Order: sequence, then structure tokens, then C-alpha cells
Amino acid sequence: MVLGIGILTGGGDCPGLNGLIRAVVRSGLPYGYRTLGIRNGWQGLMKGDVELLTDSSVSGIISRGGTILGTSRTDPLKNPADFTKIQNTLKKFQIGALVVAGGDGTLAAAHQVAARGIPIVGVPKTIDNDIPQTDMTIGFDTAVSTVTEAIDRLHTTAESHHRIMVVQVMGRKAGWIALKAGIAGGADEILIPEVHVTIDDVCRNLRARYKVGKQFSIVVVAEGTPLEGIGDYPVFEGERDECGHEKFVGAGNILGRELERRLGIETRVTNLGHVQRGGTPTAFDRVLATRFGVAAVEQIRAGNVSTMVALQSAHIVTVPLSSVFHRQKLVDPELYALARTVMGGKR
Ligand code: F6P
Repeated sequence: MVLGIGILTGGGDCPGLNGLIRAVVRSGLPYGYRTLGIRNGWQGLMKGDVELLTDSSVSGIISRGGTILGTSRTDPLKNPADFTKIQNTLKKFQIGALVVAGGDGTLAAAHQVAARGIPIVGVPKTIDNDIPQTDMTIGFDTAVSTVTEAIDRLHTTAESHHRIMVVQVMGRKAGWIALKAGIAGGADEILIPEVHVTIDDVCRNLRARYKVGKQFSIVVVAEGTPLEGIGDYPVFEGERDECGHEKFVGAGNILGRELERRLGIETRVTNLGHVQRGGTPTAFDRVLATRFGVAAVEQIRAGNVSTMVALQSAHIVTVPLSSVFHRQKLVDPELYALARTVMGGKR
């Protein structure tokens, strides 16, 4: 019988993680579970960097962004000796099962660790919303709100100066943040990796706006969008992080320069960067994180491990961890087509 549950948060942080930690701790208490917080993702599990979380230690954290446990992009199976270290920590702290909150890298590792016999329930979290099998990941809603607010602010200054504002957002190879915030913020052009668009298309669309009397434009571009027609430019930095993800420079600056050159309209570029990952979680993310946390403890109690909790059509379900392994949920082109129909300056 499991008495100790370990919880770790891995990969990039996001708002909502503290609500998850709180929910795991508190929903485990009536069953007599002790929750052990593992610091800095897999790294803490390898180093034995673990703290006991109590009802009072998670008090007041639901509204805080980031993760009280810290995070890292450490790969737990890089060296064969690392798995032994993990086993030692689990034994030392009498941890019988793990709740692992992560994006694609952390969940892929979770699947591999679980395959070696460690009971794990995964929780999908990333502002990118690119984890398959779940409609939403923790952190996505907050990021979309943050970006939408930024677009609203850029709108007023774009209007005053009759400028084009290019807004670069995160998302790696998925355009979820760009698309949802672009729709919500009334963007005039949304560029995402999933939909092929050339610089000529963008210029044509923006010219059409000016023909109907518009004097400014908002262009939202996802960091991983390749833009055909402006020569070879590095969307990727060429470097990778510890999980093997490409680091993105993004298309924003080059796109902005090219639009100004081709259209003769003053253009400014804003790269929202890590602002999108910070700050207080929205009510939606706090509730989603709480639902995921309670469900994760229930799955451990039921012995339904090697699974991930997920949100499907407003219900919390579980799916096999193997079904999300190295897969990515990309934007549905139909949703992009919908966004196109409401962009200003009809063409
Ligand atoms: O995984 C979320 C994400 O925010 C990506 O959209 C982004 O490219 C990446 O993390 C950057 O993270 P970091 O700078 O922490 O490596």
C-alpha cells in the first residue's frame, strides 16, 4: 500500500503548478498519505532533495505563479546510474508513487521511468498546450490571458502611431497561444507553424487593410513559424536544451523588418518572452490544476498508474502515459480558418 506520494514539477514552469501541489497534498491527507515535494524536477529525485509537504506548508499558494518546488530540464535516464539514484531516493523517503507534472519532455521521461516499474501518474502542464489527449494543459489559459492583455495594450499605441505591431509569442512548434490570443485580441494577422503562409501572403493581407482605410495592424507570430519568401532565417538558435528541445529565436524581428521594407509602414516588434510564463494563474488554471491534483491522487489510490490525467470535453479522464509519448497536439487548421474569417480588412 502506498503511503508516501512524491510530487515533482519538471520542464518550463507555468502558472497553476502550486494549485496542483496543494491539491495533491490536501486530497491525500484523508487517506493517510504523506506528500513529499521533490525539488527541481527529476534532479531532486536523483539527489534526494526532498521535503515533506503539509497542510500548512501549501497554505496560501494557489494564487502564486511558478512552482514552490522549483523545476529543471534534467533528463532522469541520461546515465544508467541515475535510475539507481532515483530508486534510492524513493526507498529512503518511502515514496510509493509519483505525481509528475510536465510538458512533453518530462512526460516522455515519466513514461520511461514508469516502464521500469515506478508507479507514476502524469499531469499535463505547459503554456504551449501541445500535449495530446487533453483539451487543455495547466498554464495555457493564463498565458493566453497575458498575451491577450498585451495585444490590447499594443493596439492602442499601434493606432496612435499608425504602425504595424508584430507580437512574437511562445509555443515552440505549436501555434496554440498565438491563435487563441490572436483571436481574443482581434489580431489582423496570425502566423503559426501549422499553417503555411508566405511573406507575400502577409503583405497582401495587410495591404488590403490599408485599402479599406485601416491605419495600423497587429501581427501575432508564434516563435516556431517558418516564413517562406524572406530567405533563410534562423527560427531556431541551433542549440538544444537538456531535454533535446530546440531553442527558438523566433521570426518576429526579421518579419518586422521585412514588413517595414516591403510596405513602407513603420513597424515595431515585441517579443513577449517569459512574461507569458510568469504571474498569477487565472481562475480556470487554478481550478484545472486542483481537479488534476485530486484526480491524480485518486488514480494512485486505485492503482491506475502509468497514466496521465487529462481534460476531455469538460471531464477529467485518464489516458495511458504511452499515448502521449513523443507526440504533439497541433492546432486544427479548421480553427485557424475560423480565425481568418474574423480578421479585419476583408480580402
Ligand atoms: O515549454 C514552454 C516554453 O515556454 C516554450 O514555448 C519556449 O520556447 C520555451 O519554453 C522556453 O523555455 P526556457 O527559456 O525556459 O528554456
